[in-house]
Amino acid sequence: MMDVVAQALANHPRVRLAHLPTPLEAMENLSERLGGPRLFVKRDDCTGVAMGGNKSRQAEFYFGRAVEAGADTVVTTGAFQSNHARMCCAYARKLGMACEIQLEHRVAGKGDTYLKSGNVLLDRLLGAVIHEYPDGEDEAGADRNLSKIAEAIAERGGKPYVIPLSADHPPVGALGYVEAAAELVAQAEAMGISIDTVVVPSGSASTHAGMLAGMKAMGSPVRVLGICVRRDAAAQGPRVLKRTRETLELAGLSTEVTDTDVHVTDAWLGDGYGRLNDAAREAMTLAAECEGLLLDPVYTAKSLAGLIGAVRDGTIGAEETVVFLHTGGTPALFAYEEFLGH
Ligand SMILES: Cc1ncc(COP(=O)(O)O)c(C=O)c1O
Repeated sequence: MMDVVAQALANHPRVRLAHLPTPLEAMENLSERLGGPRLFVKRDDCTGVAMGGNKSRQAEFYFGRAVEAGADTVVTTGAFQSNHARMCCAYARKLGMACEIQLEHRVAGKGDTYLKSGNVLLDRLLGAVIHEYPDGEDEAGADRNLSKIAEAIAERGGKPYVIPLSADHPPVGALGYVEAAAELVAQAEAMGISIDTVVVPSGSASTHAGMLAGMKAMGSPVRVLGICVRRDAAAQGPRVLKRTRETLELAGLSTEVTDTDVHVTDAWLGDGYGRLNDAAREAMTLAAECEGLLLDPVYTAKSLAGLIGAVRDGTIGAEETVVFLHTGGTPALFAYEEFLGH
């Protein structure tokens, strides 16, 4: 069944820079601590390039298109502590391109460390040109401004390639997670385990939609549980469904997906994007103390908090086999130093 996915992706332009496949490891101590399901972690924090993360798989397909278009500069947008922007800078440099990134002021009330350390420090080290955008909740406006940045590059004689983040554009990055679904199923088979649920953070929804599209295309019964990290479930659910259908279409797969396939919860979103809450702090501490595993405060801490909450409220049964997708974000830990209380 993995062949369906491999064939669908074969014709899409792609660069291959990520270290794949990423490991699938048991989390025996955390399983025991939670007194329930058999837990595994899919280490997409270990994709190799510039401290790794899920954005690496997504970048492979965007940069495939950028190279094919003959671009010399990549332009993209994200929150100030965007892992996506950092990853695009790294891919651009490796491929001999420049990178101009637009950092959005999405999280109010953060100080100098947030604005300068973590991913921002790495963006600067990678030689990015940094633009700022005042509004973090205006996806369409942020994309319009990207076009202006690209126009200015073109006027100077450059060849820009824009990677937008809003859901109004084809979900190119999600193709990386269609492949990740096949990779995961193959690993599980090789390890002799049968996965019931995969827990993923659900933000722009490229990861969630790609994973769901891949599972559905393979006819896999694995439930993909998305933990909202950006917007509430009422907004995220339809976005995931739309992006999953678009991903299948882009990949040339004719699989049907309905809203019953989409599982999202916003119970761990707390005060919103990029704001830590007690459940996320507990998840970070448990991951570190039980598994030596470092989570980031924006995405993976909330995602593991969602997994833990789902075990405690019975959404995930004690007999299940569950995979936690670790999507990276490690550099942001340093930008949140003053909020971590250590
Ligand atoms: C570390 C990390 N995890 C998860 C996500 C969410 O992934 P997606 O935007 O594909 O929903 C992001 C997005 O920026 C991220 O940087």
